[in-house]
Amino acid sequence: MTQGLENFWYAVEHAHGLRDQPLSVTLLGRRYLLFRDASGQAHALADYCAHRGASLARGWVEGSCVRCPYHGWSYDTDGHCVRIPADPPGTAIPALARMATFPIREQSGFLWIFPGEAGRASEVPIPPFPELGQPGWRAVSGSYTWNAHFSRVVESALDTSHAPFVHRPFFGNREDASVEGLEIVSEPGLVSTHHKLKPPARVGLLKYIVKRKRSHSSSTLTGYLPNVNRIALDFNWKGYQYIYFASNIPVGDHTTLTKWIGVRNFLPYGWADGNSIRNTVDTYEEDKAVVETQPPGPSWSTQGDELLLASDQLILAYRRALARACPSAAPVPAP
Ligand code: FES
Ligand SMILES: [Fe+2]
Repeated sequence: MTQGLENFWYAVEHAHGLRDQPLSVTLLGRRYLLFRDASGQAHALADYCAHRGASLARGWVEGSCVRCPYHGWSYDTDGHCVRIPADPPGTAIPALARMATFPIREQSGFLWIFPGEAGRASEVPIPPFPELGQPGWRAVSGSYTWNAHFSRVVESALDTSHAPFVHRPFFGNREDASVEGLEIVSEPGLVSTHHKLKPPARVGLLKYIVKRKRSHSSSTLTGYLPNVNRIALDFNWKGYQYIYFASNIPVGDHTTLTKWIGVRNFLPYGWADGNSIRNTVDTYEEDKAVVETQPPGPSWSTQGDELLLASDQLILAYRRALARACPSAAPVPAP
């Protein structure tokens, strides 16, 4: 498993995805248990029971405690075992009967956990998603699984030259695919670029709401370290935008689980949600068809075999930023 990426916040589940039942998520090869106590507050524990290592995902919540489904041990929100049913009453509970706890926050529509050194969690920002929940913005969400390292998935959404080829139904013209003058913004924790596009084809409901003849549309592509993509598409028509925010969860070296939320400020009605979801999933299917053919493992591990050009600057900027933030995970790319 790629090491050295622990000191980040990871969005591991949609906030609405965690209800009464505890939930196990896998991040960087380790299981974490999420559960809500009686007041609705979310908690995160290492999902390995101190007794014999079972997952508590099929357990249950009792007040502010969570019970293991195997032998019924009960853990409080600090991870301490407070009850061992098989021990006669009055038996002391061993100090080692505890599960590690992790910082957890509910923000930007997701549940974020910090698997690294807890003392550093407050220094590390959670990527913002200011449009979510604002009046005039309608949200849809979903999940998508890839047989690929998360870095390949992140880079597919930082790739400024693939759209006319991979997303042909939407972005069309392969004869007019040049990418010019990319200006890269690189700040602590993020890389970004804004560029103009030929107006995308008006697929689905867009046919009815945006004008055919527009000089351009534009997209702002942002990568937040280490695994979040934000894509803001501006249709250059009445201010209409579709903004898409995705946490590409590094489950293991060969598996990535994307949890995404898309918001739009046009057609803010339930009947139009299916169209937004379909466009997102179709786009993923198109990306998956190429991303899963790339070499396995972290993208930076094969950089010596790649030929990154001017149109790939955002990808290089991402690798550099990641290498600076965690040199033990990703070596600094050559200039
Ligand atoms: S493994 Fe959890 S109580 Fe035994
Ligand atoms: Fe793509």
